[in-house]
Amino acid sequence: MNNRLILVTGGTGYIGSHTTVELLNSGFDVVIIDNLSNSDKEILDRIEKITGKRPYFEQFDICDEEKLEKFFNIYKKVDAVIHFAAFKAVGESVEKPLMYYQNNLVGLMNLLNRMIQFNVSNLVFSSSATVYGQPDKLPVNEQAPFKPADSPYGNTKQIAEEIIRDVVKSNPEFFAISLRYFNPIGAHPSALIGELPRGVPNNLVPFITQTAAGVRDELKVFGDDYNTPDGSAIRDYINVVDLAKAHVVSILRMIEKNSKHNLEVFNLGTGKGSSVLEIVNTFENVTGQKLNYSIVNRREGDVESVYAEIRYANEELGWKAKEGLDKTLLSAWNWEKRIRNIKD
Ligand code: UD1
Repeated sequence: MNNRLILVTGGTGYIGSHTTVELLNSGFDVVIIDNLSNSDKEILDRIEKITGKRPYFEQFDICDEEKLEKFFNIYKKVDAVIHFAAFKAVGESVEKPLMYYQNNLVGLMNLLNRMIQFNVSNLVFSSSATVYGQPDKLPVNEQAPFKPADSPYGNTKQIAEEIIRDVVKSNPEFFAISLRYFNPIGAHPSALIGELPRGVPNNLVPFITQTAAGVRDELKVFGDDYNTPDGSAIRDYINVVDLAKAHVVSILRMIEKNSKHNLEVFNLGTGKGSSVLEIVNTFENVTGQKLNYSIVNRREGDVESVYAEIRYANEELGWKAKEGLDKTLLSAWNWEKRIRNIKD
C-alpha cells in the first residue's frame, strides 16, 4: 500500500476501468467520479473481484461545478488525477457538436479550476492519435503537427490539449502528461471488464466480436482501395491492459517528480500498423469463428494509415506494449462471449 490517492474521472468506462485495476494492483487508492452516462455501476464489483479492492465511487457529472468543489472538499488528499470522462463517438459529435464541446471542454475546465484551487498539481489526460489526422510521416511522432480535426470529437481532444498546455504554462507548479492513444482494443484477461458499447458499435473490434456473436449480421469493411498492401486502412491496435499500465507509469513519473517538462506528451501504440483485413483474418484464426463480412465504400473522415512512433514512450516513460494481436483479439472475444452468455 503506498497510500497515494488517485482520482480517476470516467473510471467505470472502458479504459478507465482497466486503468483503475492497474492502479489498485500497484498499491494506489482510487476514487472514481463517473456519471454512468456510458457505463454501469456493476463495473465496481468487477474491479473488486479482480483486485480484491474496491475503489471509492462518487456518481456525478464533473460539469457540475458545485459538486466537484464539494468533492475536493471531502477528498482532500488527492495526489493526482487521470481524466477520462468525456464523450467519444465521432459520428454523434458531428450531429451534436455543442453537446461534445460542452461535456468534453467544460468538464476539463472545471476539473483544472478545482485542481488549482485545491493544490492538486498532477494530471494525466486521455488524448487520442486522432489529433494527428493523416500524418505526413509514418510512424508518427509526438512532434507531428495537429491536422484540422475531422469531427467535433477530434477537435475537443485538440482544444483540450491546448487548454492544458496554457494552464501548465501559467502554473509552474502544475504537471500534466497527455497520452495519445492509438486504437485500444481487447479486454481484461479475466473477462470481467471490457468495452461495453451502447447500441451499434462504431469501432472495428466491438463490431467484429458482435458479428461473431450473432448480434450483427455482417461486418462492413470500409474501403479496400486505400494505398496499402491489401487495400484496407491501417491502424495501430494496442491492448487495453498495456495501455492502462502506461497510466500507472505516468502517475509514478509525476509523483516521483521525474517529469522532464511541466507538460509531456506520449504516443501510446505498438509501433506496428495492421490493416482491417489483417484484423479480420487474425480474429478468425485465433477464435476459430468465421466472420461474415463485405467490402463497402470508405467511411467519411477515415485516414488511410496511422501508426505510432513509440521510441519516446519506450525511452522516456520506460513503457512498452507487450501483448500481441492474437491474445488481444482473443481477450476481446472472451469478453463478448461472457456478456452474451456464449458457451464454448
Ligand atoms: C476512431 C475515431 C477516432 C477515435 C477512435 C477511438 C473515426 C474516423 N475515428 O478511430 O477519432 O479517437 O475511434 O475510439 O471514427 N472499420 C471498418 N468497419 C467497421 C468499423 C471500422 O472497416 O465497422 C475500419 C475503419 O474504417 C478503420 C479501422 O476499422 O480503418 C478502425 O476503425 P475504428 O475502430 O472506428 O477506429 P478509428 O477510425 O481509427
